[in-house]
Amino acid sequence: MNAIKVLLIGAHGRTGRHIAQRLHDEAIPFRAFLRKSAHKSEFAALGAEIALSDLTHDFSHVFDDITHVVYAAGSAETEGVHEVIATPLYARPTTRSGAACARSSW
Ligand SMILES: NC(=O)c1ccc[n+]([C@@H]2O[C@H](COP(=O)([O-])OP(=O)(O)OC[C@H]3O[C@@H](n4cnc5c(N)ncnc54)[C@H](OP(=O)(O)O)[C@@H]3O)[C@@H](O)[C@H]2O)c1
Repeated sequence: MNAIKVLLIGAHGRTGRHIAQRLHDEAIPFRAFLRKSAHKSEFAALGAEIALSDLTHDFSHVFDDITHVVYAAGSAETEGVHEVIATPLYARPTTRSGAACARSSW
C-alpha cells in the first residue's frame, strides 16, 4: 500500500490553512494546491509539496502519488457565480462535503 499523501485543494483559503496546519502538526505528507505562486513559501514552510494550478484548467497532473484528497476550495463569499459554473463538476463536491472535510479529525 502507498504511503499516505494528501492533496489539499484550496490550501490557501480560510478552511484550507487550518487543514494545512493540522496536516503539518500530524506529520502527514501533503501537496498544497495553490493558484498563486506568491503563496508557495507559506506552505513550503509547512513541509508541503506545491502544485500550482487552477481548477478551471486541466489539473490532472497534480494527482501523482496522491492517496487522499481534501477539497477546501471555492467560497460563495469570494467566488462569483461565473467561477462556480466554470469549475468542472468532477472537481467540485458539495459545500457540505467541503465543510465535513474541514471538521473531520485525522
Ligand atoms: N469558512 C467556513 O466557515 C466554511 C463553512 C462551511 C463550508 N465552507 C466551505 O469550504 C470551502 C472553502 O471555504 P473558505 O471559507 O475556506 O473559502 P476561502 O477562504 O475563500 O478559500 C477558498 C480557496 O479556494 C481557492 N480557489 C478558489 N477558486 C479556485 C480555483 N479556480 N482554482 C484553484 N483554487 C481556487 C482560493 O484560492 P486563492 O487563495 O488563490 O484565492 C482559496 O484559497 C467552500 O466550499 C465553502 O463553501 C466554509
